[in-house]
Amino acid sequence: MDFENILVEKEGSLAIITINRPTKLNALNKPTIEELHQALKHFEKDRETRVIILTGSGEKAFVAGADIKEFSSFNTSEGSQLAAKGQELLFDYVQNYNKPVIAAVNGFALGGGLELAMSAHFRIASNNAKMGLPEVTLGLIPGYGGTQRLPQLIGKGRAMELIMTAEMITADKALSYGLVNHVVEQEELLAFTKKIANKIASNSASAIGRAIKSINANFKDGVNGYHEEIKNFGECFETEDFTEGTTAFLEKRKPEFKGQN
Ligand code: COA
Repeated sequence: MDFENILVEKEGSLAIITINRPTKLNALNKPTIEELHQALKHFEKDRETRVIILTGSGEKAFVAGADIKEFSSFNTSEGSQLAAKGQELLFDYVQNYNKPVIAAVNGFALGGGLELAMSAHFRIASNNAKMGLPEVTLGLIPGYGGTQRLPQLIGKGRAMELIMTAEMITADKALSYGLVNHVVEQEELLAFTKKIANKIASNSASAIGRAIKSINANFKDGVNGYHEEIKNFGECFETEDFTEGTTAFLEKRKPEFKGQN
């Protein structure tokens, strides 16, 4: 895979995707969104890959937002299309991805950057990270799902305040809000994230895919999450992973899951 705006590495069961436009603080332009989509699509089919880590290159930014230069002369229809296409190709795609996606937030995560981190299944931040949705300072609102995912993650009142004030919060405040799960020193961010990712990778990929679907159902209009859970729970019983997991338990050995879906 040859990309201009992202770096892609494989490390055992992990795939690390790094947004790589450091001179623009990794701002998300259309080609970067396309490339992220292509890389994710590739790893979705790669049975060896069990967990994706998303991060930004350099020490300053995860992603400092959507590329402001790219949309500065857009009209209503172009603006709506930008949001719709971005949500389809990347933000919704990440949220509904059937393998875990972890955002390793290594610096500024602003606007589309925080929206990307919030689309991931969970977030780990370095202690220098700053997070916020500053769109109202540009005469905009978040358009990549930020008005929906921020209140889901931190509650309506806090989301209202953060979006209205455009305030950037520190990693520690994000931790206290539940926006990130852990805060670590910047030098330790990737190693720490990989450790958690490898722990996840040792579990049943087919069960984890169904857990993601069931948890996401809690946030989907018109979908009954309990029914989705029952369906996914039932489906587990006919997977190779279930046979392996239960057999290994009864034989008092560690299971060896094959990444079946
Ligand atoms: N879109 C396009 N370019 C961006 C960008 C964005 N969202 N964020 C940063 N950049 C570019 C800057 O234009 C600058 O490019 P230049 O060197 O060609 O002028 C480069 O990245 C470095 O940014 P700079 O502003 O000089 O760094 P800083 O350390 O002074 O400030 C920020 C860092 C993050 C506070 C500041 O870049 C910023 O506010 N960015 C925009 C954040 C935002 O509003 N995001 C939401 C967009 S919807």
